[in-house]
Amino acid sequence: MEKKGCLYEGKAKRIYETEKPEVLWVEYKDDATAFNGEKKETLLGKGRLNNEISSLIFSTLAKQGVKSHFIERLSETEQLIRRVTIIPIEVVVRNVAAGSLVKRLGFTRGETFHKPIVELYYKDDELGDPLMNEEHIQALQLATPDEIQTMKEKALAVNEQLIELFKRIDVQLIDFKLEFGRDTSGNVLLADEISPDTCRLWDIKTGESFDKDLFRFQQGNLQEGYETIFNRLGGQA
Ligand code: C5P
Repeated sequence: MEKKGCLYEGKAKRIYETEKPEVLWVEYKDDATAFNGEKKETLLGKGRLNNEISSLIFSTLAKQGVKSHFIERLSETEQLIRRVTIIPIEVVVRNVAAGSLVKRLGFTRGETFHKPIVELYYKDDELGDPLMNEEHIQALQLATPDEIQTMKEKALAVNEQLIELFKRIDVQLIDFKLEFGRDTSGNVLLADEISPDTCRLWDIKTGESFDKDLFRFQQGNLQEGYETIFNRLGGQA
């Protein structure tokens, strides 16, 4: 496979075309951003860790029957994916109260929910990714009711699988964000990445964070936290 022109550059990744129109080449960058790009830093090795962790997780999910855009890991910082049109909705699943939910609704940080909470956010930097409901999604014509249902069901199924995957390495899955895209046949596929950039991951025993909160709230060294997750998942340092 050959890397062609850059199609898109986001906050954490660059996406290139290949000689196959349906296949794209992703390069993970070392840039870290938070609070809608207000906080920005280059953190050496972050791209490698997110690419490795996301590749491991998408491969594991594929073995369990969850299809995604992921095709294969190419190098420490690169992977091949299927081309999809991203649906501009961020699907967040929460098992334990943390982050914006604590701020918005007054839950106690660390409180476990009896049933996971699914939230939908509008993926729009200018608007600051606001929370929205299904009626807003339909009015904005972002997705059909069937697609919304599919995304919510898939997100809850992925939640069950990720909870187990992380439990095996003594990590509690607090919450995470997923993105979905439509392939050329209109199928809704899991897309983007699943990494400590997009999940909250706490040590089961100590409650220590191994995720982007390390960077967001200056709680510690981001690369050390991500490396812990990668090593516990069986990755090579
Ligand atoms: O900030 P908040 O508590 O709403 O985030 C919930 C989860 O979604 C966290 O795991 C966070 O890392 C993830 N998230 C994300 N990208 C965003 C917003 C949230 O990956 N734009």
